[in-house]
Amino acid sequence: MTKNNAVTKKIGILTSGGDAPGMNAAIRAIVLSARNLGYDVVGIKDGYRGLVYDNMELLHERNADNIIEKSGSFLYSDRCDKFATAEGLEMAYQCCIKNNIVGLITIGGDGTLSGATEFSAKYGIPCIGIPGTIDNDLVTSDYTIGFDTALNTVVKMADNLRHTCDSHRRCNIIQVMGRGAGDIALYSGIASGAQAILLKEIYFEKEKAFGEIISRLEKCRREGKHNFIIVLAEGIALDLIYGKEIGNDLRDAIQYQTGVTEAEEIQNNPALLDQFNPELENKRLSNTDPKLKEFFRVDYIETKYVSLEHTVRGGIPTLRDRQIASLMGVYAVKILDAGKRDRVVCITDDKIVDYDIKWALAADKQYKVLLIEPYYQAGLLNGEGIKAYEKALKRYVEFTKGMAEEEVAKIHPFCENKLAQFREVYKTAQVLFR
Ligand code: F6P
Repeated sequence: MTKNNAVTKKIGILTSGGDAPGMNAAIRAIVLSARNLGYDVVGIKDGYRGLVYDNMELLHERNADNIIEKSGSFLYSDRCDKFATAEGLEMAYQCCIKNNIVGLITIGGDGTLSGATEFSAKYGIPCIGIPGTIDNDLVTSDYTIGFDTALNTVVKMADNLRHTCDSHRRCNIIQVMGRGAGDIALYSGIASGAQAILLKEIYFEKEKAFGEIISRLEKCRREGKHNFIIVLAEGIALDLIYGKEIGNDLRDAIQYQTGVTEAEEIQNNPALLDQFNPELENKRLSNTDPKLKEFFRVDYIETKYVSLEHTVRGGIPTLRDRQIASLMGVYAVKILDAGKRDRVVCITDDKIVDYDIKWALAADKQYKVLLIEPYYQAGLLNGEGIKAYEKALKRYVEFTKGMAEEEVAKIHPFCENKLAQFREVYKTAQVLFR
């Protein structure tokens, strides 16, 4: 890429998709390192929408002050449907010409990278992607910006819930974001001392899995444990397999299948008929669930379900997120300046590297297919699930079009290996679910 011409060439930066703590640190690093190399930098507002509708501002070093510790994206972030149309792409291109933008650095998840790929393929503006998403779901990168902060947030919330859960001898089911990926659930579950972690990557059949969890809780309770945490990944509740209500379903299963009915209790202990049992009475009084009232369940494991939703996406970026975001930002500018194009910055074995964006996206789709394949084979995917499965397959084919055969051949083993590594972590953690 050329720079320092009569008209200074500009690098455009945008953040798109769900925001992630650490995005500002990446923007800061891009501004400072691009300015150091003699580029002008423009901050494009609201993701691709700002590129379509020409909403951007010139950024210099001082715009990068005091943003490293702020969560979210000071350029704002959004998903822009218009950019996915031919007209939107053309408008974005005209905007680049008008503003003299010769290279784009986009920070976001897989949707952000796909947008960049399509734009670059059609109009030839070089794009460099930086993975910024709490989900940690870009298969070519061991890490995506925001993941560590999200984990710390979940762990803090889980600790809070455990305190109250302990006083009330309850179980808390905590659902965490992650879209299709179980990374947040797995690692926060381990760090929160969960009794069970349910995620798509570890194939499960609902009733069987619920039964196993319930037996585990009852066993722990017989041994004297009386508070329980279960972590549930968003990805499994995406309507695709078991429906959105899985958190409520699990809560009901635990409440209705633990303990005994009053009739059973009286049968076991007829003396109850003649004496007032304050414990029994208390349980009954605190029982507001109509179905539980109807059955007069006694000594069941009272269970609360909470979905942490977007709270997981906020929070002051941790050291790790600031550090990785800063280094990725510098790296992105460096490779753009060196003339590389259409690459995504990734972390592999603690090193910053870059992959061809199309290859990374093809691998991403392949990974998604691998994740839902077993449910598809078992006939467990609902209509939406089948559509998602077919879409991932189709996108995989699109991204691999024109790619050298030996490159395509590497994708499947790469994804299999990544999935095996993830499953290994779960397997190791299983001994802690007791
Ligand atoms: O990709 C980040 C993410 O927070 C996912 O975990 C979640 O599924 C999604 O974005 C939520 O998106 P929105 O903010 O549009 O509701």
